Amino acid sequence: MRKIVLATNNKNKLREVREILTPLGITVLSQQEAGTSVNPEENGTTFAANAEIKARAVYEATGLPVIADDSGLCVDALDGAPGVYSARFAPEGEVCDKLLSVMAEVPQEQRSAKFVSAIALIDEYGSLTVCEGECHGMIGYEKRGTNGFGYDPVFMYGDRSFAELSADEKNAVSHRANALKKLYDVLKERYGE
Ligand code: IMP
Repeated sequence: MRKIVLATNNKNKLREVREILTPLGITVLSQQEAGTSVNPEENGTTFAANAEIKARAVYEATGLPVIADDSGLCVDALDGAPGVYSARFAPEGEVCDKLLSVMAEVPQEQRSAKFVSAIALIDEYGSLTVCEGECHGMIGYEKRGTNGFGYDPVFMYGDRSFAELSADEKNAVSHRANALKKLYDVLKERYGE
């Protein structure tokens, strides 16, 4: 059985990635299960660079193939901000209120945004592949829904916010799901039957 470490201890990410890769005969280990707690500074200027920084650090600590992801929200009216700074835009739980207040004067037709996810794979030889996925939507005028996390309540996908979608509905269209689908194809080509 082939093993890949997912450079996270986040249970939701682990479940999502396990569901997708187990059918390929791949065992997905958490960082903890791989016996490392490295947590490098994510000082890259792109999602891909940050995903690689995380993957490389865990690869160097374990010697096993590694997958790492980095994601965030890019708002057109803010020239792509908060982007790679999405997690640091405001204290956790306050990101939506801050975004709504910064966007208060922005008219509907200029409220387009996208979530981006970059997933870096470092294989057993240390070579890098990056898969990116996006999901396009609009920033709403108020928080809606209670599901999800982060910016989900203000990210309108059609006439519902991401926080109004079920986990399955979000996973069918999300930036992370789109990046994972590409990763699946890469791994299937490489390791599949
Ligand atoms: P990271 O990829 O775990 O570093 O997450 C970066 C930040 O982007 C998170 O803290 C969230 O604020 C935001 N983010 C990434 N993906 C999502 C999502 O699917 N919904 C809402 N916020 C997200």
